[in-house]
Amino acid sequence: MKLFALLALPLLSLSVGALYNATVVYQSPDPLHLLFEDLVARASGHLLLTACNSSTLHSFDPSRSETGLTPIHTFPNCDGLMGIVEIEPDVFAVASGFIDLIAKRGANMTVWTVDLNPSHSAPLVRKVAVVPNCSILDGFSTIPGSPHLILAADPGEGVVWQINLVTGASRIAFDDPSMSVDGPPPALGVNGIHVRDGFLYYSNSDATTFSRIPVQLNANEDMVRAGNAAAQLMSTAQPAGFDHEYDGFDFDAEGRVWAATHTGAVTLITQRGDGSFEAEIVAGSLVGPSIIEEPSSAQFGRGSAKQAATLYVTTAAGQLLAVDTSAGAPGSTEKCHVKQPRCY
Ligand SMILES: *[C@@H]1O[C@H](CO)[C@@H](O)[C@H](O)[C@H]1NC(C)=O
Ligand SMILES: *[C@@H]1O[C@H](CO)[C@@H](O)[C@H](O)[C@H]1NC(C)=O
Ligand SMILES: *[C@@H]1O[C@H](CO)[C@@H](O)[C@H](O)[C@H]1NC(C)=O
Ligand SMILES: *[C@@H]1O[C@H](CO)[C@@H](O)[C@H](O)[C@H]1NC(C)=O
Repeated sequence: MKLFALLALPLLSLSVGALYNATVVYQSPDPLHLLFEDLVARASGHLLLTACNSSTLHSFDPSRSETGLTPIHTFPNCDGLMGIVEIEPDVFAVASGFIDLIAKRGANMTVWTVDLNPSHSAPLVRKVAVVPNCSILDGFSTIPGSPHLILAADPGEGVVWQINLVTGASRIAFDDPSMSVDGPPPALGVNGIHVRDGFLYYSNSDATTFSRIPVQLNANEDMVRAGNAAAQLMSTAQPAGFDHEYDGFDFDAEGRVWAATHTGAVTLITQRGDGSFEAEIVAGSLVGPSIIEEPSSAQFGRGSAKQAATLYVTTAAGQLLAVDTSAGAPGSTEKCHVKQPRCY
């Protein structure tokens, strides 16, 4: 693990709190076996799912889970899809590429926009750009107030790109030591990212860290760190040394972070009154078998109040899980099977 400069924080701790009930609502069957990578909830409540070994974007209706997956669009010149984010109502940006599952690197990484507004009879798909010089595009984030811009994590280079969805231009927006990758492929740095309330929040896979950095949009519409602000370490996945890594994540209404955590859990990261952060496992388990197998991302549902309190988790084992966060409940202890290959 790389050492990097951080704001000193009084306390970093991780404990196992009350477990919320996690249930598998969809399991990708063999031989299709989708290695789910990322997801986003539409206003309708339907979920859009990407898999790093499928060029097809799929939809899932949580209110009719027996229906399974519905293909939405199949992208050309790729064999996998990575990050996805909603940039305008029912318009999404998504990454495609040829994904090497062993090296965890991509080729021909391309950003698309997919407009699912019902005014079009079919999805309106536009190629934005092949992003040159990136090694793989992973987590995507909007830039609040600038729907034509996104940020994209590049865990292979350990940097965050800014991509203009209108011009296709890209630039490295963040290259902080807390994001860096500490070895050759398949090492991974910065992975899940989200901009919220003046901070860029991000996980770093191999560093096993979750951090944030104050950011702002400058006069050139470039996302930059605010002043000389330093990265703040919020949490380190524990216990260390067992491939425990933070991955994709979402915020709840209170701004708390719910992070998919390899090998089998969801971690809730909360800021205490004194400004320090506390992390607890709230679904699944990092020790022993877990119902959640290699979680890749997590997003709250949309639509009804019940959906908004349900955290959906994708996994590299082809699972989509629903975590009911409305009430603490004894965790499920279903067995897990062999480790699956995963993209990152
Ligand atoms: C967990 O959720 C499932 C599906 O909704 C339900 O059948 C089960 O009773 C719940 N378990 C607990 C302990 O609440
Ligand atoms: C996805 O990867 C798994 C594991 O390597 C493989 O079994 C499966 O066939 C792949 N699915 C597709 C659609 O390529
Ligand atoms: C992938 O990118 C390389 C390098 O830019 C290019 O030569 C190749 O034609 C691309 N392949 C496809 C299938 O687009
Ligand atoms: C890609 O990287 C090369 C070498 O660093 C650089 O010369 C080139 O300008 C970069 N291209 C883009 C589009 O950023």
